[in-house]
Amino acid sequence: MKPLADRIALVTGASRGIGRAIAVRLAQDGALVGVHYRAEGDKAKEMLDLIRVRGGDGFLVAADLADPAGATQLADAVIGELRTRRDPPTLDILVNNAGIDDRKTIEQVTEADFDRMLQINFRSPFFLIQKLLPVVADGGRIINISSMAARLSFPTMPVYAPTKAALSTLSRVLAAHLGPRGITVNAVLPGATSTDLNPAAADPQRSGAIRDTVALGRIAEPDDIAPVVAFLASREGGWITGETIEASGGQRL
Ligand SMILES: NC(=O)c1ccc[n+]([C@@H]2O[C@H](COP(=O)([O-])OP(=O)(O)OC[C@H]3O[C@@H](n4cnc5c(N)ncnc54)[C@H](OP(=O)(O)O)[C@@H]3O)[C@@H](O)[C@H]2O)c1
Repeated sequence: MKPLADRIALVTGASRGIGRAIAVRLAQDGALVGVHYRAEGDKAKEMLDLIRVRGGDGFLVAADLADPAGATQLADAVIGELRTRRDPPTLDILVNNAGIDDRKTIEQVTEADFDRMLQINFRSPFFLIQKLLPVVADGGRIINISSMAARLSFPTMPVYAPTKAALSTLSRVLAAHLGPRGITVNAVLPGATSTDLNPAAADPQRSGAIRDTVALGRIAEPDDIAPVVAFLASREGGWITGETIEASGGQRL
């Protein structure tokens, strides 16, 4: 039997990058996966096809998490999907992965930049958890994708890093609050990972310098991060809660 058989998961920002790898992996492990995307329906449909070709299944949900109403719209859409599958509707695994970065120093950040990043990286995950909590199953899992930037000091991340630190701290607070329901809440902190969000990772000029800071000597692929999330989502990961788990190959140890 697959480790996540009969589980229903939601992965935000599952259209590409780390979220896509997480969604594919959870589906491979047997979960029915809600594939959240913002706007590119064709890409998301391709992604669901890939999951199905590999023997898994899922459903698509769209929402713009830069919109203050986005988390509520997403929660409503997910609960609607759950209702067609379970009575009462319940969600087993929530992965808050969608996020943005915008490399600017404090001198360059505008108020609009600040508000957008805070909205997508912290406010939306916060309210998505709040709106979905009534349907998160007892014994369920909440996994927030933070960043190792939360413990470091990159000068071009004066908003990004604090939003990720906030998500890590929220995970700890909620782990204590939701423990009586058997719900675990953890933050996974990827290091430099080769995705659209981290163009330096794919840039031959800059990637060498990043690699030199990684104990295991390379930049991560999204598939390096997905199994960590899958473990936390599994029954075997059930005794871990309130933790911030770095998946960085030992970056800047
Ligand atoms: N890559 C790294 O080095 C690294 C390191 C540490 C932590 N992380 C974290 O890992 C997570 C995934 O990042 P990634 O590297 O995979 O980035 P990515 O390839 O740029 O993917 C970001 C995902 O977030 C979604 N998203 C962005 N803005 C959105 C919005 N307004 N509404 C809804 N969805 C939105 C994107 O959807 P669309 O396709 O619709 O835009 C996409 O699916 C992020 O939380 C990031 O902070 C990444």
